[in-house]
Order: sequence, then structure tokens, then C-alpha cells
Amino acid sequence: MAKVSIVGAGAVGATAAQYITQRSLADVVLIDIIPDTARGKSLDLQQASALLGESATVCGTGDYALTADSDIIVITAGVPRKPGMSRDDLLKINAQIVKEASAKTIQGSPRAIYIVVTNPLDVMTFLCWQTTGLPTQRVIGMAGVLDSARFQTFIAEEMNVSSADVRAMVLGGHGDLMVPIPRYSTVNGIPVTELLPHDRVEALCARTRDGGAEIVGLLKSGSAYYAPGASVALMVQSILLDERRLLPCSVNPRGAYGLKDVCIGLPVILGRQGAEQVVSVKLKRVEKRALAESAKAVLGAIGQMKQLLS
Ligand code: APR
Repeated sequence: MAKVSIVGAGAVGATAAQYITQRSLADVVLIDIIPDTARGKSLDLQQASALLGESATVCGTGDYALTADSDIIVITAGVPRKPGMSRDDLLKINAQIVKEASAKTIQGSPRAIYIVVTNPLDVMTFLCWQTTGLPTQRVIGMAGVLDSARFQTFIAEEMNVSSADVRAMVLGGHGDLMVPIPRYSTVNGIPVTELLPHDRVEALCARTRDGGAEIVGLLKSGSAYYAPGASVALMVQSILLDERRLLPCSVNPRGAYGLKDVCIGLPVILGRQGAEQVVSVKLKRVEKRALAESAKAVLGAIGQMKQLLS
């Protein structure tokens, strides 16, 4: 059985663990700064496994030694923004957490593939890549899969069709400047731009951009975790089973799309070696400009993070 360690046994971490074990993809180690949280959720998940007849195990701990020899490390550890906390405060705190989690896990799992979930996503993915010193293809941010799932859901709802027939592509940074690409979003191969009027497509793109905030607004406390957890599990599956799915993920483009020195959402092929290939597709001028703007914002935030950490 493969091994996946998830740093941060919060809502997203535990939900990812649930989907991973349910599909018997890997044994899971849940690790948290509050070890009893990890232990409690692991016990609960194990007891669910007993009912569902799953063979994958879950173990909760505060000890990084137990993450050794992981095939995949998922980093969800972080704090949410609280009232009175500036964006800079949040950036600094989460950067310190992600740096620590990356440094502590890489020691025991030098050949792992990392999936980063903590926000601000693209900046934290870049930091994890820098801290671990791994090749770019082994450090991947989870955002595009989630944002695309949101776009997929909204398209399906708008057209009253099964979301199983809808594929969607959302590129760029995970934030206000994400870049949904309707031309490459289809209902069973038919671009949505052929199926819906322009203003409706634009409205669905806007709702996708605000997809996280919409859920935060409804929940009142906390943020989304089912779809983020499922997004992590989908990426884990594509990697461990070497499915080579083409998915939007945050990666260091190393020159692809004219971008470098950032991490940003691009279509990649996810297989056993990680983000094995960045797939270059033709973008229209306006899409290219939106992607460049998005990358510029991430680049700025990376600079800010470096200052805050120095
Ligand atoms: N080491 C390990 N775990 C940590 C650390 C640390 N240094 N700091 C915080 N944690 C843990 C918390 O104890 C908590 O259990 O990370 C977990 C975060 O869980 P939640 O607050 O429930 O957040 P969640 O909804 O799971 O979201 C995880 O993803 O959406 C992003 O940036 C967002 O921080 C959020 C992350």
C-alpha cells in the first residue's frame, strides 16, 4: 500500500484522508500541531473503515518521524484569516507553517511528491518547492482542480445537465485573478461558448471566482472542505495509479506560457512522477493577458512573503 501523509488534520486534511482511504488508495498519516486532533479524527476514520470494509489504515500523530517514506505529502496546515488579521499577517503565519511542514517532512521522505493546499496557494506552493529543493514536477498546488469543479458544477446547474458530462478548465492563480477558460470548458466535448449566451458564461465565471467566498458566507464560520478534500484525493489517485490525468494544477512553469519564477495554475499531466508535463495550449490574447496579470500578482505576493520571512 502506498503512503500519504497529510500535514494539518483540519477540515480539508481529514476529508482528504476520508476520500483517500475510502478508495483504498493509500495508508494515511494525519499529523497536526494539536496531536489529539489528528488522533481523534484518525480513530473516527478507522472506525468508519471498519464499517465500510476498507483495507487502508489511518494513523494520527504529532510526530513527524511517522511520516517517513511517504509517497505523497499533502500540506493543509495553516490558519484561517481571523477578524483583525491583515493579509500580511496571514501570509507570514501560513508561510512559517508551510516552511516548517516542508522542512520537517522532506527529511524522512526525500522522494515524496508534495501537494500543497494552504493559502495563499500559489505562494505556498512556491515556498514548499524552495524549501524542499525538489524538482519542480514534484511540488504541486491544489487549486485548479477545485476551481474547475466549481465551474463544472455551475455550468451543469445552468444547463440542467449532469455534471458528469461537464469538463472545465480554470487556469491562473487561486484567487480573484483566476482565469476560467470557457472555450476549453465543454459539455461532452461541446464548448460552453457554443451552448450558452456570453453574459451567462461571464456570470458563471464570476461565480467561480467567488466560489470559495460564497461558501464561507453561507457557513458563517469555516470554509469549504468536501470539494477541496475530494480535489486532493483526485490528484493523489492520478499520481499513485499513474493515471496521467490532464488537470489544472499550480506548478512552476519554468518558461511555459512565457512564465517563470512563480507557481501558477496550468494544465499538467499528473502521473507517478508528479506534474510530468505542462501542456501548452493556444490562448487568445485576452486570456494570455489575464494569465500574465494573475502571474504578476503571485510574483508580487512571493516577493512580499520573502520580505516577511527575512
Ligand atoms: N503544524 C501542523 N499543523 C498545523 C500547524 C503546524 N505548524 N499549524 C496549524 N496546523 C493545523 C491546525 O491545528 C488545523 O488542524 O492545520 C489545521 C488547519 O485546519 P483548518 O483550520 O480546519 O483549515 P482547513 O479548512 O482544513 O483548511 C486548510 O487550506 O484552504 C486552505 O489556507 C486554507 O489554512 C487553510 C487550509
